[in-house]
Amino acid sequence: MRSYKIALIKGDGIGPEIIEEAVKVLDAVSFCEGFELKYEDYLLGGAAIDATGDPAPKETLEGVKKADAVLFGAIGGEKWDSLPRDKRPETGLLKLRKELQVFANLRPVTVYDELVNASTLKPSVIEGVDLMVVRELIGGIYFGEPRGNDGEKAFNTMVYTKPEIVRIAKVAFEIAMKRNKRVCSVDKANVLDVSQLWRDTVEEVAKEYPEVTLSHMYVDNAAMQLIRDPKQFDVILTGNIFGDILSDEASMLSGSIGLLPSASIGEKYGLYEPIHGSAPDIAGQGISNPIATIASAAMMLRFALNEEAAADRIERAIKQALHEGYRTQDLSAYDAKEVCSTSEIGSIIANYASK
Ligand code: IPM
Ligand code: MN
Repeated sequence: MRSYKIALIKGDGIGPEIIEEAVKVLDAVSFCEGFELKYEDYLLGGAAIDATGDPAPKETLEGVKKADAVLFGAIGGEKWDSLPRDKRPETGLLKLRKELQVFANLRPVTVYDELVNASTLKPSVIEGVDLMVVRELIGGIYFGEPRGNDGEKAFNTMVYTKPEIVRIAKVAFEIAMKRNKRVCSVDKANVLDVSQLWRDTVEEVAKEYPEVTLSHMYVDNAAMQLIRDPKQFDVILTGNIFGDILSDEASMLSGSIGLLPSASIGEKYGLYEPIHGSAPDIAGQGISNPIATIASAAMMLRFALNEEAAADRIERAIKQALHEGYRTQDLSAYDAKEVCSTSEIGSIIANYASK
């Protein structure tokens, strides 16, 4: 029997409860498709700080590399917000991404027909939206040196080298080739030198993909265009911080940030996580939406394990659950036939995925 090792990082806040639902669904589809998943838990973020004092313990950074893929919940919370930067949960996640060299963060934004009314935007604007944000994940201002804060003056550095831009641009063009063959590269080349190198380099890479239409957009304009006419986008290629901001914005096209999955991919490893945070304010109440994590598990099956049929099962099941009117609290106002708890919607999706 095909057998895979999955490293689970449940994390903080709603992390454990959404991972539990993803595992429920994974177990259902692996059974149906005749393969086996073996899970191992690892600590990261606040949970790791509480247990070991370190947001990214060595056992985690080394251990997860033995797995075929890493499924990640969410980290962070007020409890750890006043710690020095290198001890904060977020630093743990950044270290993990860096350690795994997962430089490409893929954030697909799909609008489910059933939820066109859930967005704050008009249905006519968002109906049929299907775009992919390709965010560079282990460079840019998140990691640039020098950085510092002496209480009087603080600074970070946005750095990109040409090879870093080339490799993320290639990912975006490859993805575009399998989609609608359009890449919009987002930068701030009218102000930033780093963005000028980004733009020039993306132009060079584009020559290898003559079938793909490349356009460029300044990030401020892109933020506006995403709301004005999101259907104009196919693949959005951008750096770390712009991608962070634009993908939160884009999530609202779908109606809830609780719906959007992501895959972080490198040469060797893959990390699969919902784009949302740990939402400590709603943790433990059974009202969080596990769909983003369940959809991330589907991406994991497809990209890391090549279990396409199982991934399809999950994606179909999510659509069906929404179609039948099952809604978690965040979406309860939109054509809900039944409002479900976190674990109820997980079971419904697992059940549909098994059919
Ligand atoms: C995300 C998150 C992270 C990021 C935080 C938690 C470090 O917002 O995955 O988008 O900024 O990358
Ligand atoms: Mn973010």
